[in-house]
Amino acid sequence: MKPEWKYLPDPDCYVAEDISYCQAPVNPDLQAMHIYVPACYMKPDGQIDFNNTNSPRPDVSYTAKTVPVILYNDIGGYSECRPAGLIDRNKEFVANGFVLVSIGARGRQSVDENGSPSGKAPMALVDLKAGVRWLRKHQNELPGNYDRIVSVGTSAGGAMSSLLGATGNSEYFLPYLEEIGAEMDERDDIYAAQCYCPITDLDHADLAYEWMFQAKAVSTRSAKELPVAMDDFCRTFSTGLAEAYPAYINSLSLGAELGANGRSGNFYTGLMEKVSQSLTKFLKRNVRWADQLVEELNAGTDLICWDGEKAVITDLDKYVRVFIGRMKPCPAFDGLNLETFENQEFGTVDNLREHFSAATAELFGRLQDDLPNTAASEGSLPEKWGISTEMLDRAQHFNPLYYILSPERKSDIAPHYRIRLGSKDADTSFSISYSLYLALQSAGIDADYALVWGLGHCNADYPGEFAAWVDSVC
Ligand code: DHB
Repeated sequence: MKPEWKYLPDPDCYVAEDISYCQAPVNPDLQAMHIYVPACYMKPDGQIDFNNTNSPRPDVSYTAKTVPVILYNDIGGYSECRPAGLIDRNKEFVANGFVLVSIGARGRQSVDENGSPSGKAPMALVDLKAGVRWLRKHQNELPGNYDRIVSVGTSAGGAMSSLLGATGNSEYFLPYLEEIGAEMDERDDIYAAQCYCPITDLDHADLAYEWMFQAKAVSTRSAKELPVAMDDFCRTFSTGLAEAYPAYINSLSLGAELGANGRSGNFYTGLMEKVSQSLTKFLKRNVRWADQLVEELNAGTDLICWDGEKAVITDLDKYVRVFIGRMKPCPAFDGLNLETFENQEFGTVDNLREHFSAATAELFGRLQDDLPNTAASEGSLPEKWGISTEMLDRAQHFNPLYYILSPERKSDIAPHYRIRLGSKDADTSFSISYSLYLALQSAGIDADYALVWGLGHCNADYPGEFAAWVDSVC
């Protein structure tokens, strides 16, 4: 391997582009990565400079062999993605002196040369793993510490990051890795995972969504689309899904319970405490306007209590109604008509879109028997749907909780996680990332969880905090 390094003045770095990370790629343009190296770790002739300790940040001193490697995936909506060039979301990693590996992967719509689906779950994860293995194989020819790989992704990419962290060296993925000619003698565990608003626990995400957003029956997906109101069938469906969530959460033994009414227990109060902390931090950074901000945010309600030191929000339903709104219809992930990203992600060679949530399917079956005559069920509802055992297994293996909470621990879990989401994020329930955080804690993994006030579904963070976290764990 001889990377062809090209110099880029902004930020001061070298890049080697479109490196293939497996020997039998199905989609070579996707199964590739770009490697960006801060110029301080390179000599002008493209050799690694092992002696320089001049980081772009004066307060830290990494060398070419100790500098952490940020493995950035630009996956969104479970789509395929080319390795991203330097963009707003990843440029600062290089500017802060980290090695950046920007990796591409197959996705829900990918097809092979015969037009057959090639990127359904779990292929995006398989590709990221193949990338990790390739980097380990070639670590002596590259700047960076490949025992300090920090994965970063947002949304579906955040879910991938959580999975990459949870599934290290799992045998489940070996046949898929073999198929694409990955480096089979290398490990694919990582050191740390940064997950921005991860859209994960897909097989229970419908329950979680109705649990969180039950105060609203009208959803507004985007400014370009008309709001959609639930019909009687969907209202009943929504209630049933929400009611099923506490039993699911409690079955995980996270060390925090959710009360049967869904609005009590330390799972609920703990999450609302995280929401409150996020506003407290925001107000303390804006002390001058804090009182006025609270007044305007409250908009005539008593949603927020603020005593000048601490903000407190305890009512999730009011919070949803006043502050966030509802984005998705019911069910939100395993769509009634197979219309979601996730239905496509779980497709097969025979059916490009599939149902995947056993919990949603079970409730649907019961309601269809109980509610045969509602307006929605006349014509527009699908036939009863069932989930095959293969699909159940596949969905489970695409859920980080399955590995983290597994008593027999079939994988090597990243020792450090950092989870961030915007306090206005309505793409999935807050409880999805919160339960991931609690599961990690219960498994003895160092996990840092916070909401970032006022932001929506994005790589929600305060400036400089990600780099400080990487420094602190590395
Ligand atoms: C993403 C957003 C979603 O609402 C979803 O269901 C899946 C993925 C995303 O932005 O990646």
